[in-house]
Amino acid sequence: MLPSAVKTELERRIAEADHPKELVVDVMMACQAAYGYLSDEAVAIAAGMLDMTPLEIEELATFYNYIYREPVGRYVIHICDSVVCWMEGYIPLRDYLCQTLGIEMGETTPDGRFTLLPACCLGYCDRAPAMMVNKRVYGFLTPEKIDAIIDELSSEE
Ligand code: FES
Repeated sequence: MLPSAVKTELERRIAEADHPKELVVDVMMACQAAYGYLSDEAVAIAAGMLDMTPLEIEELATFYNYIYREPVGRYVIHICDSVVCWMEGYIPLRDYLCQTLGIEMGETTPDGRFTLLPACCLGYCDRAPAMMVNKRVYGFLTPEKIDAIIDELSSEE
């Protein structure tokens, strides 16, 4: 269920907008923040608020890399697979992450802590190879640096 404060704020913004559908990404992100991912219930809520169909929301949700239609872990790791990171060692680092976490790309660790996903260029090309964990970007990745990041996140409560 969408928290009433979130719903009220979204409804206020939608009422003030000249073109309410322009807020669709904001609405999806707010619903995702409340549910942890864009659940079917959240899709229906977003559609209702914006006078759109659930299919229209679904089409947009699956277009955006950072909208999740399935539950994700507490830390979502997006490793960049665009051209500069690819040239700077994306494949062995991706394989190292998979091996370290014991999952394949697109999966979540059994403890629900990490989800591993690909990403388009993160804008960190000058520090490639790069990955983003939730909203924090890490560059100049090496296996050692990945170990330190995973260790730190694994120890957080
Ligand atoms: S190509 Fe990876 S950050 Fe730009």
